[in-house]
Amino acid sequence: MIKFKNAIKQKIMITSNQLRKKYIDFFVKKNHAHIGSASLIPDNDPTVLFTTAGMHPLVPYLLGEKHPQGNRLVNVQKCVRTGDIDEVGDATHCTFFEMLGNWSLGDYFKKESIEYSYEFLTKELGINPKDIAITVFAGDSDAPKDTESANHWLRLGIPNERIFYLDKVHNWWGPAGQTGPCGPDTEIFIIRDVKCDNPDCSPACNCGKYVEIWNNVFMEYNKQEDGSYIPLKQKNVDTGMGLERTVAMLNGNKSVYEIDLFEKALKVLNNNAKIQDEKGFRIILDHLRTATFMLGDEKGITPSNVDQGYVLRRLIRRAIRYARVIELDVSYLTDIVKAYIEEYADFYKELKENEEKIIKEFEQEVERFSKTLEQGIKRFEKMIEHIPNKIISGQTAFRLYDTFGFPIEMTIELAKEEGFDVDVRGYEQCFEEHRAKSQAGSEQRFKGGLADNKEATARLHTATHLLLGALHKVFDDPNIQQRGSNITAERLRFDFNFDRALTEEELKKIEDIVNEAILKAIPVVCREMPIEDARAEGACGIFGDKYGDIVKVYSIEGYSKELCGGPHAANTKELGKFKIQKEQSSSSGVRRIRATLEE
Ligand code: SER
Repeated sequence: MIKFKNAIKQKIMITSNQLRKKYIDFFVKKNHAHIGSASLIPDNDPTVLFTTAGMHPLVPYLLGEKHPQGNRLVNVQKCVRTGDIDEVGDATHCTFFEMLGNWSLGDYFKKESIEYSYEFLTKELGINPKDIAITVFAGDSDAPKDTESANHWLRLGIPNERIFYLDKVHNWWGPAGQTGPCGPDTEIFIIRDVKCDNPDCSPACNCGKYVEIWNNVFMEYNKQEDGSYIPLKQKNVDTGMGLERTVAMLNGNKSVYEIDLFEKALKVLNNNAKIQDEKGFRIILDHLRTATFMLGDEKGITPSNVDQGYVLRRLIRRAIRYARVIELDVSYLTDIVKAYIEEYADFYKELKENEEKIIKEFEQEVERFSKTLEQGIKRFEKMIEHIPNKIISGQTAFRLYDTFGFPIEMTIELAKEEGFDVDVRGYEQCFEEHRAKSQAGSEQRFKGGLADNKEATARLHTATHLLLGALHKVFDDPNIQQRGSNITAERLRFDFNFDRALTEEELKKIEDIVNEAILKAIPVVCREMPIEDARAEGACGIFGDKYGDIVKVYSIEGYSKELCGGPHAANTKELGKFKIQKEQSSSSGVRRIRATLEE
C-alpha cells in the first residue's frame, strides 16, 4: 500500500478544477476531441458492475469500431472501484475517483503518447524532470520487452537509472473485465523525499518513494477467454491519471482527503462529530461521495439487494455505521451529500439535475437502516457473548441480514473487530435457500465479456432496442426509458422506469411486437448525426454528452430509433424468436425484463 509519507520535493499548488481544465485544454490543443464522462453503469458489459476506467466505455472503439468524435479523444471519467473497499480509510484508497485520460484509436502510438505526457507534466504542470521516474514492460512469452518506450524516455532526457523494467504484474494493463483490449504500459512516477533501505528499491517497492501519477497503456492485444493474447486490428493508446491522487501529491498533501473536493463535506464532519476518528471520517467521506454519484448517475440506480443497487446499499449502510462510531447524528449525513452535490455541480450537471432524487433516496435508505442498526448491533453484541468457538454461524449472519438489514460484509467487519470469524459459506447457503424459495434468479455476471460471442450479443442488443420500442407501443408512452442494460451471450436484461408489475397479457403483447419486427426482416440502419438532429427526430436514448456532438442513431423502421454506440445485427431477421423469461422489480419505480432469442 502506498503511503503519502513525505511531501513531493517541489510542491505545485493546483486545484482539482485547474488540473481537469489544464488536462483537457492540453489535449484539445493536440487535436483530441473532448468527450463527456460516460455513466458509472457500463453498457452491455456483463463482467463488471461499474465503469472502472476511462477506457471502459470505449471498448468497442478500441476493438475497431469507428468513434463518431474521431480517433483522438480526451475526457474526465467518473469511475468506481469497489475491489479495495476494505482499504478505504487509509491515505489513498477511494471507491470513487475521477480519471483523466487521453486516447489514440489507431492513430498515434508510443512516441507521441510519451512526448505528450512528458510535455504536459514538465511544461504545463511544471514538474521538475529530475523528480520523474519511469517503468516499462520487461517482456515475457506474451509480448516483447518494451525497449521502444524506454528509448523514447531516454531521448527526452530521463536517464537509464530512472527507467525500470518490470514484469506483467506491474507493467501490463487490462482487460477491464476478463477479456478484451489490453497491453503493456509505461507508468510515470513522481519521486518523493523518502529514504529507503532496500538496495533494490524501485517503483515496485512500497516504501512510498515512488508514487504513480500516470499510466500510458499501449493496447495492442485482445485477451481471449482461453487466456491467450491476439494482436488487435489497430494499435491504441489508453492513458489514465487519477485526479484526486495527483492533486494531493502535487500539493504535498498527506492524504487525498485533504484536497479541495472534500473540503465542504469535511467541514460538516469537523463541526458535528463528537469523536474525531480519522478512519471513520475517511470512510464516511468516501462512501457518501460514491453514493452521491451513484444516486445521481444518469442511469439512476437506487439501493436494492442486487448488483449495483446492493453495492450502493452497502456503502450507505457502512457510512451509517461509522456515523455511530464517531457519534455523528445521521441527519448530518444528508448535509454531506448536499455538500458534494454543491462541490461537483459545475462539472457533473447530473448531480444538480437529480438533486431531489438523490436526497430522497438517500434519506429513505438512512431511515430504513438507522431504525434497525441499533437493534441489530445490540443483538450482535449479545450474541457473541454466547459463542464459544469464535465463529458466527451462517444462519446467524443471515438473520442479521434478513431481519436487521446487515450486509454480510458489515457482519464480517463487526466480527473481525471482536476477533470473530463468520461462516460465509453457511451464510451463502442460507441466502441461496431463501432466494430459491422466493424464486429470484441468480446471476452469471462474472462469465464472458463484451468481446465474447460478439454476434450473439449484437443480436441481443438489437432485441433490446426492439423491446424498448415495443414498451413504447404497448403503453403508448415515449417516456419509458432504459435504466440499465446487461447483455451476455445467452440473454438480455433490461431495466426501465415503470411503477408496477406488467401483466401476462402485456408481456405477451410486447413479445408479439418484437417477433413481428423480426419476421418482417427489417434492416438495422446506423446513421451519424448532430445530437440536435437526433433529438429532433425523436430518437430515444440517454442524451448526456457521452458521445459528444455527433452521435450514432440506430433505426429499425417502424419499431425503434435509438441513440447508441452499437454494435448491432444487420437485419432483424438474424434474431430468431424473442422470448421474455422473466419480469420483476429491479428497484423502486424500475422494472427488469430478462429475455432470450431462440434459434
Ligand atoms: N486503463 C488504464 C488505467 O486504468 C489507463 O487509463 O490505469
